[in-house]
Amino acid sequence: MINQKKISFDITVYDSLTELKNNDQNLMSAAVKARQKAYAPYSSFNVGASVLLENGEIIEGNNQENASYPSGLCAERVAVFYAGAKYPSMKIKAIAITAASLNHEVSEPAAPCGNCRQAISEYEFRQQEPIRILLMGETGCIIECDSLADLLPLGFNSSFLN
Ligand code: THU
Repeated sequence: MINQKKISFDITVYDSLTELKNNDQNLMSAAVKARQKAYAPYSSFNVGASVLLENGEIIEGNNQENASYPSGLCAERVAVFYAGAKYPSMKIKAIAITAASLNHEVSEPAAPCGNCRQAISEYEFRQQEPIRILLMGETGCIIECDSLADLLPLGFNSSFLN
């Protein structure tokens, strides 16, 4: 028997930062500040990520590039790995991500790469509570997703290893 199923998810689109809830404005501002400190001399594509923990603390990260290109790391992973290293058992409530290029205006919300989606999903699966994701370019709208799992349908997690 063949069963066709549809996977869909909801997003919220905000036209501007001022439409975000107060705390989310702060979180995205932290991501913008982190973005401005990115080390991206090879791509000129600066990404900032800010992680909101359940204790209210915000941990920031940005992309760190390397002359040996694959040795660099994306902003999202720098941020979540730092959060995991500093607070090994603290839940993550939300992550804000923003990207800007020195070569053109990024007017679409930043799209986290597949590796970063997988890395964040590890934390979401482990804490068994959704991580909200906020995405923004340099200008333009902001997209809010209720859970990282929405961005990684049929994802791989540790349950497959048991
Ligand atoms: N980058 C991120 O930091 N996050 C992503 O999700 C996509 C890409 C960085 C990696 C590299 O330093 C630059 O953007 C260009 O790919």
